[in-house]
Amino acid sequence: MKIGILGASTMGRGLIQHCANCGFDIIYRARSQKSVDSAYQYVSDQYDFMISHGWLAEEKKAENLARIKGTTDIKDLADVDYVIEAAAENMETKKELFKELDSICRPDVILATNTSSLSITEIASVTNRHDKVVGMHFFNPAPVMKLVEIIPGYNTSDATLETAKSVSEKLLKTPIVVKEAPGFVVNRMLVPMINECVAVLAEGIASASDIDKAMQLGANHPMGPLALADLVGLDICLAIMETLHSELGEDKYRPHPLLRKMVRAGKLGQKTGEGFYTY
Ligand code: 3HC
Repeated sequence: MKIGILGASTMGRGLIQHCANCGFDIIYRARSQKSVDSAYQYVSDQYDFMISHGWLAEEKKAENLARIKGTTDIKDLADVDYVIEAAAENMETKKELFKELDSICRPDVILATNTSSLSITEIASVTNRHDKVVGMHFFNPAPVMKLVEIIPGYNTSDATLETAKSVSEKLLKTPIVVKEAPGFVVNRMLVPMINECVAVLAEGIASASDIDKAMQLGANHPMGPLALADLVGLDICLAIMETLHSELGEDKYRPHPLLRKMVRAGKLGQKTGEGFYTY
């Protein structure tokens, strides 16, 4: 099966790495040649990292890389069998992409979106295949995290859901089917908690590292919520809080002003070299 992946940023490149490692042929599309090249280099470096830890056999690296092709032209996705979109978390961007994909891909091809909180029904509305659009929400780091939330839109067919579940299983993930709702299950709970940690920090109750230590040692989290926010990207956390706030309308989902200020300052976490920590 050949999978088309749209976007080569944090989630896109993790998916490229993992899908190729699970035996799928991959064509990924980024907007610039620079992003295409940097994603390829990232994936190659990740395979080296995995080899050095004994997680990947050395000969698998060349095999995997041979299955991966990058492009800047979305029309190169014309012959894919399945699409996973992992572009910017913005409704207008996603609608533009899905409209184009709908005109390029075979009519039987399922178009999955890795949106972390947006409406699948609205994304599907710009296509002529409402039954074949589905949410497939992976978690960061994509090669490691075992869960995939599968989200049907209003018109998504049962056959599409079954295929999305089966693709998830071939990617060695555990799928759960979640009704369309802002933030689905994980982000509805996780990101407000991160937002609350930002409030605790802003109120000077504890330092960033002590807040993280508290949740690691006091609640057994594998990494602290502020370090996790840096991993996920503060822009993504803000976008999710904004969706929760505008869709659910409750004050408890209001993004903390410090989160907003840091995003405005370009302190997005690991990807910009600075967030709650410096990298
Ligand atoms: N590529 C492939 N596999 C990797 C890898 C990589 N770069 N790094 C680690 N792994 C695999 C290893 O093979 C290992 O597997 P094994 O147990 O079968 O040998 C496993 O991952 C664990 O590796 P490590 O022991 O080195 O990793 P740690 O124990 O340090 O854990 C972590 C790292 C998994 C990132 C852990 O810190 C963690 O779980 N953090 C929380 C992550 C999280 O909550 N993510 C969700 C964010 S929310 C989200 O993404 C939604 C979005 O919409 C916002």
